[in-house]
Amino acid sequence: MARALARDPVETLLYAPEVVAHQLFDRQFAYQVEEDWGPSLHHVLGLEWPCLECSGYQQVWNRIEADLDEKGLSVGRWTYGEYSDADASLGAAVWCAVRHLSPATVVETGVARGVTSRLVLEAMSLNEGGHLWSVDLPHPLRPELHAETGAAVPEGLHDRWTYVRGSSRRRLPSLVAQLGQVDLFIHDSLHTGRNMRFEMGTVWPALRGGGVMLVDDVDNQSFADFLGRAGQPESLVLRAADGPWMFGMVRKPQRSAGT
Ligand SMILES: C[S@@+](CC[C@H](N)C(=O)[O-])C[C@H]1O[C@@H](n2cnc3c(N)ncnc32)[C@H](O)[C@@H]1O
Repeated sequence: MARALARDPVETLLYAPEVVAHQLFDRQFAYQVEEDWGPSLHHVLGLEWPCLECSGYQQVWNRIEADLDEKGLSVGRWTYGEYSDADASLGAAVWCAVRHLSPATVVETGVARGVTSRLVLEAMSLNEGGHLWSVDLPHPLRPELHAETGAAVPEGLHDRWTYVRGSSRRRLPSLVAQLGQVDLFIHDSLHTGRNMRFEMGTVWPALRGGGVMLVDDVDNQSFADFLGRAGQPESLVLRAADGPWMFGMVRKPQRSAGT
């Protein structure tokens, strides 16, 4: 912690209240969970299931695993300190959201080795359109992991990608103001209730009607709180492919007041 303070005092001081609030206030919340991500997510998008995009997704997922393996990196839980790569269900939800909605502007928070970033960029490449902005603070306490940042994203996909280094607390509000409108938002950064509330509340007013937010690791109460404040838009809590973890999906109504 002392070394982190010396290296980056601003980000380290922003991190401290997250840790304290997490210890004091975050509790497990009993969400009603859909065990199979596919049918319900496609229903919310107004699309048929089974979905023809799934075989393309599987090929890309396999390539990501192979590419990371070649670099000596495995894909899974707790591979980047206490942070995890996207699981295969969140990955599929990201893939389908980009392929089906063809978003022009995607914002994500949390890159680590870049599994979700790669999926968005591969899907955009097939769509022949769109740009991804990724806000990411490389692990604040483990500088030896920083070289792994974005390892899953090959050079050939960088033209549609803007990596914004820094915490979402510092970087997200100005990015969203600059972009004006967001078509798809993916939260996968710091999963404290305080930070999740902050990110969802920052992006929601700029999310276009019909746009989607995917929110990883919704085990605390912040996703439910957010939905309440937003007037209970259509939403789902979906099960991860590799265990008891959950991620959320919320679709903004076509006409909606901000939170
Ligand atoms: C769960 S990992 C991201 C996994 C990635 N989406 C994937 O699928 O491979 C979380 C990432 O968010 C970063 N992070 C932690 N706190 C952050 C913050 N306050 N703002 C932005 N990024 C943060 C971590 O250092 C890490 O790179």
